[in-house]
Amino acid sequence: MANIIKVQKGTKDILPQEMNLWYKLEDNARKIFSNAGYGEIRTPIFEATELFARGVGDTTDIVNKEMYTFEKSERSLTLRPENTAGVVRAFIENGMHRLSAPVKLWYKGPMFRYERPQAGRQRQFHQVGVEMFGVQDATADAEVIELAVSYLKSLGLNDLDVEINSLGCPKCREEFKARLKAVLKPYYNDLCEDCQTRYEKNPLRLLDCKVESCKEIFSKPEVKSVIEGDFICEECSQHFNELKSYLDDLKIKYSVNKLLVRGLDYYNRTVFEIKSNNLGSQNAVCGGGRYDSLVENLGGQPTSAIGFAMGMERLYSLLSDTTEHKLDAYVVSTNKSEALKLVKYLRDNNKSADFDFNGKKFTKQMEKASKIAKYAVILGDDEISNNQVSIKNLETSEQIIVPQKDLLEKI
Ligand code: HAM
Repeated sequence: MANIIKVQKGTKDILPQEMNLWYKLEDNARKIFSNAGYGEIRTPIFEATELFARGVGDTTDIVNKEMYTFEKSERSLTLRPENTAGVVRAFIENGMHRLSAPVKLWYKGPMFRYERPQAGRQRQFHQVGVEMFGVQDATADAEVIELAVSYLKSLGLNDLDVEINSLGCPKCREEFKARLKAVLKPYYNDLCEDCQTRYEKNPLRLLDCKVESCKEIFSKPEVKSVIEGDFICEECSQHFNELKSYLDDLKIKYSVNKLLVRGLDYYNRTVFEIKSNNLGSQNAVCGGGRYDSLVENLGGQPTSAIGFAMGMERLYSLLSDTTEHKLDAYVVSTNKSEALKLVKYLRDNNKSADFDFNGKKFTKQMEKASKIAKYAVILGDDEISNNQVSIKNLETSEQIIVPQKDLLEKI
């Protein structure tokens, strides 16, 4: 026998029995985001590598370690690790800055990151997300967070923690970085290898380190007081306070997490994550924030923007499927051509229906019907010659004979 080729590590087949919940994830997104004025955008799955290097940031793990990059015709291409950079590219390329602000877009689709697979972390995964362009006011931040919460609620997910933080603007952040570096300098040699690189290249990302010995250093009183001190400038602080009061108005519960810095470089001011207690270590279902410089950095007009993305596999694992999967009707007949015609008639009239292609024995067909359908529609020789059908309710076992023309109203 030939070797079996297996699915790649960190990737998964999504099977028919899982689709009901995937449809729910997608349908609710379409409904809730379009109600709020967001139009769907579908961008290509691969882009120029440079887009992510410049967009996501070349000091991030995503760009440094996790991209699926390949060459074709001497171009370096990358499977998208996330979709904000791609949507910004499309925003610029399609001249969307000329549309009246805000421009609101949503998307869903596969993303690719070469990460160590574990529960809740895959190499090919799906995100659903939104991006809003053109509003600097904190009402936009509040709307986007509210939209994330509404979408999660629509899925029945209420028990989630919303964490927010403000990273300030490039100006106040520079000052914070300098203070953080100064207070950590005596501990430099004790930091993990990654943190030593972050110390040089992107000190803010130090706060996100999960290594115990680094976390201990960050909890030392003098370091903690820098981390927890209010480093952001007057304007950024006002923006953050406004956001908090809008969230209070909307009755959205949140907590401020000063260690929340996010793993992508494009953010400024508001960042947020939504976490579940039922997901183990990969507990973030949603991550997002404001990125007011990205459009300009990728060659567009200066445009404020904010958005989020959610991991659909993580959402999927929090849902349970309570819908009934049974067919409306299973046509039971030893006359295959009559059965074929009746199944087509039922389907044409919006009833889900199927039959036995092999013309198995009557009892076998009835057994199958009771497993997969709500009604058995029986077409024996008598029924065929009298233009009738027998309908058996497979839950109650009640059986009736009706003229074929009355079939639809009985099932
Ligand atoms: P992110 O935090 O990298 O942000 O990803 C968002 C969400 O995608 C995560 O919270 C998680 O649920 C899911 N996710 C990420 N990586 C994986 C993985 N390897 N396996 C399964 N799920 C995963 C972004 O991607 C930003 N583009 C979000 C954003 C949009 N910011 C502004 N606009």
